[in-house]
Amino acid sequence: MASRKQPLFNFNILILFLFLEPLQVHSVCRNFCNNIPINYPFGIDDGCGTPQFRHMLNCSTDLFFITPSGNYKVQTIDYNKKTLVIFDPAMSTCSILQPHHDFVMTDIQSVTIPPSPDTIFVLMNCSIDSPVLNHYKSLCFNFAGHSCDELYGACTSFKLFHLLSNTTPPCCFTSYNTVKFMSMNILDCSHYTSVYNVDSLKGVGPLDWLYGIKLSYSVPDTGCERCAKSGGTCGFDVETEGMVCICSASNNATIQCGAGIGMNAGKSLRASSLLFESFLVLLLIFHVILL
Ligand SMILES: *[C@@H]1O[C@H](CO)[C@@H](O)[C@H](O)[C@H]1NC(C)=O
Ligand SMILES: *[C@@H]1O[C@H](CO)[C@@H](O)[C@H](O)[C@H]1NC(C)=O
Ligand SMILES: *[C@@H]1O[C@H](CO)[C@@H](O)[C@H](O)[C@H]1NC(C)=O
Repeated sequence: MASRKQPLFNFNILILFLFLEPLQVHSVCRNFCNNIPINYPFGIDDGCGTPQFRHMLNCSTDLFFITPSGNYKVQTIDYNKKTLVIFDPAMSTCSILQPHHDFVMTDIQSVTIPPSPDTIFVLMNCSIDSPVLNHYKSLCFNFAGHSCDELYGACTSFKLFHLLSNTTPPCCFTSYNTVKFMSMNILDCSHYTSVYNVDSLKGVGPLDWLYGIKLSYSVPDTGCERCAKSGGTCGFDVETEGMVCICSASNNATIQCGAGIGMNAGKSLRASSLLFESFLVLLLIFHVILL
């Protein structure tokens, strides 16, 4: 009895192994998080994408962009325009009023993936002592003819500023640099929101603005194109952060998946290991039958 059980057990393990192995091929670099494609220079598995954006994305329930001030939901990534739109769930919008909260990026993020020039920050309900109403007045600009009055009058949430003060509390349309160099406490405005694609918002009311932060990224050319053309996925060595061209689950190259060497070697290696496993399985079946 006992000697009959053992090969059966091994047989199950082997079957499991056979099913798991093809999965490993895909698990090197996942290329989707929900419905958002994850391609170079980004990666959600360590060692994928460029090291410059390492630990910046988190694919838990959704795709999140990780910053020192919090995790922001990624709405879209446009690989042609090299932009990514994120949403701060704690900021105010036309439909919800939430107390201000700093938007902080790391120094590296500020340089490699800063908010795009067509993203603006709107500081609302500023106190009369706010630096942007006094010494730093010049940091506020005219945003396509839109006014604080229009803003406070247009949306259910912003109407509260009008109602509670019976006047039009000052607001300021400004750029990322302002919130980068001055914290919300220093700026002394009780609420903020952020709007992107502002170049097309002339004559468009606040109800139809696009709320969120558009980030614009750039990466130095490290030869990823060559790797991608050879059928590989660009990644990096997690220890040295040097570039790696991932050709298959069992094969990495330094520059590109060599024709007949990289990709194919990986494939034939896998094929032969499958053959070997099938042989083992057959052997086990015979073993079980014979017993
Ligand atoms: C290939 O590189 C990736 C990313 O660095 C790593 O996760 C994987 O273990 C490497 N595979 C091999 C076979 O070295
Ligand atoms: C990923 O983001 C979610 C949502 O903010 C958070 O709950 C989770 O802890 C994060 N995971 C990591 C590894 O940062
Ligand atoms: C506007 O700011 C003042 C402080 O300057 C604050 O007392 C007031 O509650 C704010 N208004 C709203 C609607 O939060």
